[in-house]
Amino acid sequence: MTTDNLSSRLLVTGGCGFIGSNFVRYWLGQHPESRVVVYDKLTYAGRRENLADLWDDPRLLLVVGDIGDQDLVRSTCQQEKIDLVVNFAAETHVDQSILGPLVFTDTNVRGTHVLLEVARELGLRLHHISTDEVYGHVRDDHQSMETDPLLPRSPYAASKAAADQLVGAYAITYGLPVTITRGANNVGPYQYPEKAVPLFATNAILGEPIPVYGDGLHMRDYAHVYDHCTGIETVLLHGQIGEVYNIGTGREMTNLDMVDIVLDTLGKSHDLIRHVTDRPGHDRRYSMNVDKLKAVGWQPKYDPKEAVAEAAKWYAENQTWWEPIRSGEFREYYDRQYAERLAGLEP
Ligand code: NAD
Ligand code: DAU
Repeated sequence: MTTDNLSSRLLVTGGCGFIGSNFVRYWLGQHPESRVVVYDKLTYAGRRENLADLWDDPRLLLVVGDIGDQDLVRSTCQQEKIDLVVNFAAETHVDQSILGPLVFTDTNVRGTHVLLEVARELGLRLHHISTDEVYGHVRDDHQSMETDPLLPRSPYAASKAAADQLVGAYAITYGLPVTITRGANNVGPYQYPEKAVPLFATNAILGEPIPVYGDGLHMRDYAHVYDHCTGIETVLLHGQIGEVYNIGTGREMTNLDMVDIVLDTLGKSHDLIRHVTDRPGHDRRYSMNVDKLKAVGWQPKYDPKEAVAEAAKWYAENQTWWEPIRSGEFREYYDRQYAERLAGLEP
């Protein structure tokens, strides 16, 4: 499939979130002929300001809505003559899924199912953004392959695995033209500060303690969001319909190594580190084999160390973006998640 016969009218669900907004900016930059309709519920993680520089662009439209609202999804696709749906919309934070799991089923499972139904009804291609968490944690001598069984271990991961399998089932049962990408941990601009890298960077800048779960030796592949966007683009343009592709760097580091990079980049003291009570069911290691995507022409631009350092720098240079978040509703969540964990450990 080439750019010419690929849709130039995209519905990007969750386009006001972290990866979705980076993808919209990247896509419009690379495909000037495109029209993008962002369809977003604007939850706490979905922020209009993530695309502030683009709202005046006539190629971009925002529709505020829930992916579970079948009538609104259908009418939006019809009115806007959409032929490709790219589904980023999700509840995405593992810790939030432990505190309140049901909304994860509503959005990630039922919401994705509604998108599949509309795609089936209207004959649309659907690309679904999945995650490496669907594989569960992987042993030290293995890298997850696209053909591996899905063994999710948190409510978030289980909801993403269910969505991933529904997408696969629609390809088999109805012949729906779908593709799936399973991404590693992304870092970069506009990531909501509940996630580890932006949380640690913003805490360090504010001089607050860095709450590392457990021994901090859990391993993640911290990939730059730019490389996730180019990976999705590669699959949209050159991927095989019906196939799944892993997107990551294939190289992981421990959380303690990640913290060192954040603190060193920001010139902050390592004395801020606190080992706190672990996340229940905390996956020890994610690691994916990304050869299948490389075989269709994709290469990551960033090394994970560079990706983490670049992300930390962005938070230092963009305090006006995250300060209002940190002082608002986020504070309530932060206290619920960390007050007890940090009690007695503060300097
Ligand atoms: P995010 O939490 O920053 O953004 C999610 C977006 O979805 C927000 O704009 C939110 O308003 C929107 N949304 C939530 N519920 C909705 C609903 N019911 N209807 C419409 N919109 C809704 O998430 P992110 O980190 O950008 O992740 C985007 C996608 O990528 C998710 O599907 C996630 O599972 C997947 N993913 C994330 C990572 C990562 O490291 N962040 C890695 C791999 C895959
Ligand atoms: O792997 C892809 C996934 O990456 C995505 O599907 C998820 O949407 C995204 O949230 C992310 O999940 P993780 O749970 O891996 O990311 P998080 O940033 O929450 O945590 C990264 C690591 O840091 C993890 O091992 C837990 C640890 N951590 C996290 C927080 C928030 C801490 O030690 N302390 C913390 O306060």
